[in-house]
Amino acid sequence: MDKKERRMKRSYSIAVIPGDGTGQEVIREGLKVLEAVSDKFNFTYEKIIYDLGGERYLKTGETLPDSILEELKDVDAIYLGAIGDPRVKPGILEKGILLRLRFALDQYINLRPVILYDKRFCPLKDKNEEDINFVVVRENTEGLYCGAGGFLKYQTEDEVAIQESINTYKGVERTIRFAFDYAKKRNYKKKVTLCGKTNVLTYAFDLWERVFYKVAKEYPDIQTDYAHVDATCMWMVKNPEWFDVIVTDNMFGDIITDLGAIIQGGMGIAAGGNINPQGVSMFEPIGGSAPKYTGKNVINPLAAICALGMLLNYIGEEEASLSIERTVKRVVREKLESLSAGKMGMGTREVGDLIASLV
Ligand code: IPM
Ligand code: MN
Repeated sequence: MDKKERRMKRSYSIAVIPGDGTGQEVIREGLKVLEAVSDKFNFTYEKIIYDLGGERYLKTGETLPDSILEELKDVDAIYLGAIGDPRVKPGILEKGILLRLRFALDQYINLRPVILYDKRFCPLKDKNEEDINFVVVRENTEGLYCGAGGFLKYQTEDEVAIQESINTYKGVERTIRFAFDYAKKRNYKKKVTLCGKTNVLTYAFDLWERVFYKVAKEYPDIQTDYAHVDATCMWMVKNPEWFDVIVTDNMFGDIITDLGAIIQGGMGIAAGGNINPQGVSMFEPIGGSAPKYTGKNVINPLAAICALGMLLNYIGEEEASLSIERTVKRVVREKLESLSAGKMGMGTREVGDLIASLV
């Protein structure tokens, strides 16, 4: 069956990469929920599990073999746990697996919703659920993440290290357009904020700014706003209610979405999608592999479960997706003592079982 047929028959092919550390544990719970919603909403799926990650690298020296990458081009979506292993030098797995997947599959959008489900878990004073509900559209294949640059006179006192930010008109334009389309579809505050640094990065963000206002002309119903990245951080803490859709480059997007995660209750609840609107997308909890919590049944699986919700929405199973969102909200509000690892009042498996039984 090809993709179109699979969609018509509601019979999907889902690649699963549990990855490292707690990635394994949270994906296990996500898969329980997938089974439950597929029963309830009458769709079927085939899951193809890939053992990419630190363990495979240490055994075979492989990060992401080309043959697997080819297989991944043909699935309906990828469900990823976490990549990162303390036994492997930083960068090898992240660049070799996670970033390679994002780049090779041209997943040029990293979509990260910031939603507060329960004000008990918000670290900000006097903010509640209505105040924290926005989404960050992070460019996901360019900027400082390209790996452009290098060393001169490596490991001498004359050493020069260069890391360049690549911003292409096409890459910037498609990201900004996605953000405006998203704001229109979302139909919430109808506002897109460009987060940049036009006062210092006068080449890169000059391009971003020009493209932003050019694209904005095509969306007369959508309000525009601009904030420097440092100010964005301040506003996210002081007035998060100002935001609806924030669009930004890869590096700034990485940084502000960790801040976003913490104001919505922490890494335990923050999910994201690496999206190629014309191709294969990949959904993941945005926290890392959390080695110190691995194997203890204490990690919060809700971020991975929310990522599954995003995945289902993306492949067209909207009802299942909404059901997951509602159930997560309910469980967060009614059952959990905290969203942090080890403090939830129940274990990883119990949270997964509970969601699976209620969706
Ligand atoms: C994220 C992560 C990754 C990134 C790392 C692990 C390469 O921090 O998904 O936000 O920087 O994009
Ligand atoms: Mn990050």
